[in-house]
Amino acid sequence: MSRITSSFGWKSTAAEVAEGHDLSGRRAIVTGATSGIGIETARVLATCGAHVVVAGRDLAAADSLVAQITAAGGAAHATALDLADLRSVEAFADAEGETPLHLLINNAGIMACPFMHTEQGFEMQVGVNHLGHFHLTRLLLPALTAARGARVVSVSSSGHHWGAFDFDDPHFERTPYEPLVAYGRSKSANALFAVELDRRHRADGIRAFSVMPGGIVTKLGRHMTDDLRKQLGIDPESAAKIRWKSVEQGSATTVWAALGTELDGAGGLYLEDVNEAVPGEPGRYNGVKPWAIDPELAARLWDWSEASIDAVS
Ligand SMILES: NC(=O)c1ccc[n+]([C@@H]2O[C@H](COP(=O)([O-])OP(=O)(O)OC[C@H]3O[C@@H](n4cnc5c(N)ncnc54)[C@H](OP(=O)(O)O)[C@@H]3O)[C@@H](O)[C@H]2O)c1
Repeated sequence: MSRITSSFGWKSTAAEVAEGHDLSGRRAIVTGATSGIGIETARVLATCGAHVVVAGRDLAAADSLVAQITAAGGAAHATALDLADLRSVEAFADAEGETPLHLLINNAGIMACPFMHTEQGFEMQVGVNHLGHFHLTRLLLPALTAARGARVVSVSSSGHHWGAFDFDDPHFERTPYEPLVAYGRSKSANALFAVELDRRHRADGIRAFSVMPGGIVTKLGRHMTDDLRKQLGIDPESAAKIRWKSVEQGSATTVWAALGTELDGAGGLYLEDVNEAVPGEPGRYNGVKPWAIDPELAARLWDWSEASIDAVS
């Protein structure tokens, strides 16, 4: 099948991609909408008329975005969500799972943090980036089904190049912890999750996509050290040459995944620069690796994720 493309590209902004879309009467949840590209994603969806649930663990920051959206004539409210605690995810789903949900944007993320664990004992990056969102999405399936046409966007990263999901030691219990590899694995999981979610629930009207937003200067890099930069081959000279996207450009592919009509009838795809990515492309910061879109790995990851959550429930 040929790649799905759009008239947009690297430079396009979320507002440009969203132009002409009317989301009146639709509801959207954006996780991690308290910083970086999550804020712009939520803001743009609200501009189109969606009622946006600003999901975040920093409620003051979430309230401040709600105030900004409502001051601009949009509709939004904030609900607390800490993806590092499955009980918080359940409380969020209890509060937000009763009404039809048209868009679920699983955007929150943490990158290359020191070795830490979630409340339920998962390695932090796989716990927050993947398992927290996995649990959230499954709890919200009735609301997504009730929308009779919903999309779920899983914000992944070209960081998936740094690690295929490791079913043998997913929480680094036997092998030394490597912050960038852990991030890579969790971002591979984000892409695989979209593949299997789409396969399982397309008959319920739920389509799923994963997204590489681009390189954007946000708080995501808060744990990056000189040593980790060196591991990525980034020295001060090469760092100065990196072409970053703005936050407005960095949220464009997410908004396309949520709204793009070119994607109608499709699902399970990994998108970047507002187009479907090229499979197997060897670029350092582009293309999708086979281990992030393999249907068998995706099915295996789903079973592993269910079992992981059942074990601590
Ligand atoms: N920036 C890039 O270059 C880039 C590249 C590729 C992919 N991405 C992906 O894009 C997404 C958004 O990243 P960003 O660049 O906008 O980073 P950011 O500015 O650090 O925003 C991340 C968001 O995730 C939230 N978050 C972190 N841990 C959480 C938890 N336990 N529970 C709930 N929310 C949590 C953060 O909340 P707090 O503010 O409370 O920490 C924040 O709202 C991430 O999934 C990231 O992997 C970014």
